[in-house]
Amino acid sequence: MNAHFVTLPGDGIGPEVVAEATAVLSVVAARFGHTFTFEERLIGGAAIDAGGHPLAPETVAACRQADALLLGAVGGPRWDRPDAAVRPEQGLLGIRRQLGLFANLRPIRVFPELAGASPLRREILAGVDILFVRELTGGIYFGEAGTRADGVAFQVMEYRPDEVERIVRVAADAARARRGKLTMVDKANVLEPSRLWRRVSGDLVAAEYSDLDYDVVLVDAMAMYLLSRPGDFDVVVTSNLFGDILTDEASMITGSLGMLPSASLGSGGPGLFEPVHGSAPDIAGTGVANPLAMILAAAMALRHSLHLEEEAKAVESAVASVIASGLRTPDIAAGGDSVGTKEMSAAVIAALSG
Ligand code: IPM
Ligand code: MG
Repeated sequence: MNAHFVTLPGDGIGPEVVAEATAVLSVVAARFGHTFTFEERLIGGAAIDAGGHPLAPETVAACRQADALLLGAVGGPRWDRPDAAVRPEQGLLGIRRQLGLFANLRPIRVFPELAGASPLRREILAGVDILFVRELTGGIYFGEAGTRADGVAFQVMEYRPDEVERIVRVAADAARARRGKLTMVDKANVLEPSRLWRRVSGDLVAAEYSDLDYDVVLVDAMAMYLLSRPGDFDVVVTSNLFGDILTDEASMITGSLGMLPSASLGSGGPGLFEPVHGSAPDIAGTGVANPLAMILAAAMALRHSLHLEEEAKAVESAVASVIASGLRTPDIAAGGDSVGTKEMSAAVIAALSG
């Protein structure tokens, strides 16, 4: 197959990890007889420095032509003034919104060999395998916002019924293909949009997904359950802001933020694949960033955008075997021996080729 990727390396360690993901994809192409092409574009702080805008219209146009998008990370202290009118994060929010990437899939899986890196006790981690489905193009992130003359700042949380229904549908389909359990997280005891979520989600499940084991949990309680019984969850669906917060919390369960990929999908069009971690400005340029989250994000691109399941599994198995072999970047080394970005990625490539 021929596939065209647009890469958006962004800031901090973004370029370092994207380079490794494209190297891995090139090896996949050679091994499985595909032709993959890569076109690099600027986003975030790098794009602000180059042209004043975190996401230029030409970049969006190029992304629309791609089969899949690989994004490193955006942001860093250089662009971080709270009063800045132009911010790197606007690039990321802009691409999500303009390409209609409403479904953000964040799998939370514990690599057994890395369980020691988790702040949680080993017995709590047993069997943790959660798929977060976060709504990504609506809610308070995109609500009307401003600061009034009296100094009061506001940002509105809005959801349309069809926006809720389509994301719950993505989650329900995923649950059906996994262990059949769906948890919807909201704050329906306080927030009106959450009451809409509860109604729309409940109606959809009753009408079309009554085979699922369906549950609703309030977001504050969910924050607790993720620490006390994370093994009980299968697919978790929630709104944009709650999903942002809960997935950072959930990433710490695994103790290895550097291992977690994410996929943002719309209806048709290219998906956007990125690591859950950020631009890590503290280690940028030092060659020690863990490339595995980005490489696993590339595997998700193979699966979700190119429908190359065997190739996706090959990359995931290569990563699993490298972890099993004991190779560690500093973030997952728990103070023990560690290797750099290049060495880690070379080991994945060797496992893929071998
Ligand atoms: C994420 C990030 C982004 C978000 C930021 C960088 C805008 O935290 O992808 O979770 O809030 O969605
Ligand atoms: Mg976040």
